Amino acid sequence: MGRDTRMPNAFDDSVPPADDALRAMIQRRTSLLGPAYRLFYQEPLHLVKGDGIWLYASDGRPYLDAYNNVASVGHCHPRVVEAIARQAATLNTHTRYLHEGVLELAERLLATLPDTLAHMMFTCTGSEANDLAYRLALSFTEGTGILVTENAYHGLTHAIAKISPSVGIDQAGSEHVRMIPAPKPRGVRDQQGIDFSHAVSGAIEDMVAHGIKPAAMFLDTVFASDGIFTDPPGMLEEGVARWRAAGGLFVADEVQAGLARTGEAMWGFQRHGLIPDLVTIGKPLGNGHPVAAVAVRADVAERFGRATRYFNTFGGNPVSAAAALATLAVIEDENLQANSLKIGRELRRNLSDLSSAFTIVGAVRGSGLLVGVDIVSDDSLRAPDPVTAARIVNDMRRGGILISATGPFGHVLKIRPPLCLDAAHAALIADVLHSVLAKL
Ligand SMILES: Cc1ncc(COP(=O)(O)O)c(C=O)c1O
Repeated sequence: MGRDTRMPNAFDDSVPPADDALRAMIQRRTSLLGPAYRLFYQEPLHLVKGDGIWLYASDGRPYLDAYNNVASVGHCHPRVVEAIARQAATLNTHTRYLHEGVLELAERLLATLPDTLAHMMFTCTGSEANDLAYRLALSFTEGTGILVTENAYHGLTHAIAKISPSVGIDQAGSEHVRMIPAPKPRGVRDQQGIDFSHAVSGAIEDMVAHGIKPAAMFLDTVFASDGIFTDPPGMLEEGVARWRAAGGLFVADEVQAGLARTGEAMWGFQRHGLIPDLVTIGKPLGNGHPVAAVAVRADVAERFGRATRYFNTFGGNPVSAAAALATLAVIEDENLQANSLKIGRELRRNLSDLSSAFTIVGAVRGSGLLVGVDIVSDDSLRAPDPVTAARIVNDMRRGGILISATGPFGHVLKIRPPLCLDAAHAALIADVLHSVLAKL
């Protein structure tokens, strides 16, 4: 199948690894799982164990995981593992019985969200949460128009794949979708907020001109797949206000930004002073256990609930609720939001030093423990350089540090470690990157 040029850091099977056992395992995987699956790294990793910030390969080698917001409070965190095991040994069943766990989880999550969000609905994945948010928005607005950013990823269901341009959008059947640029820095501090609100207005005008009624704007509030754009706080306010004035609902997709990742707030939308109509939550909620959710306004849920019923066999089951409750407790008890803020700043400071030392290192940006580093050409053009970025990602992996790349060109190094990263780990990431850059 060769290299998937649309996916940064995708394994290219036309250059198989030299190791016989690894090659055989890759072949077995391809023959069993089929051609749609992708692997990371040019020498794909066979992992067998995780512990805190560390992942261990089958040969026993430890890797510092600087790319994981799934095991967000640390791999195999003992409190989460214990909560899952205890609940699994007590009761797990579908969600049509009364159970305390899901109620406590809903209370805990709602307490962190704006008062206007009255209900929690549970799913198993972020894709499913966005799919449900989509249905809720359609039923409330009676519109069909969807607004997303140009390289967004929101998930894999039929409806959500059509609003996830980073995986390639089929034009047929996507007439209701409009894509706008993510708010990229353009030198002047507040310019991207202005650009963003103009782009929203343009999309609304275009929808209206085509007889499309706005339904939902989905934003990943850190723009992780668009290239990581987090600043300045407040930059999304005017654009979101314009969209809502046109009758559309605003869905904050917090699968990437949520649960303390940005350090400055529990949720990414809070950094921008936004009050969403719907919030979708995924990956980090169960620290590896599949549990996800939608927070929704009372009137939006009411309209949907009148028209249909909602049942999700596994969404919010007792074991999932236990995993999520334990994850929330760890974030609080281990001060992981504050840690993300502090260590994220140190990491960006260390990486910014590299941008003065190496011309190919461009802007270093992000918030908390979500960091993007532009890799650009070594000339006055400073053009995106995805080839060198891919080389750096693979050399880092050889050096024992797992990162990846993102953005429409794949030239932005994406560093997104579990929130338990400490100062020594942050220094190690910068040191290894320094030696990788020095050897290019
Ligand atoms: C912003 C965003 N939304 C939604 C999803 C989909 O989540 P899941 O893979 O759990 O379906 C992802 C997954 O990467 C994501 O990054």
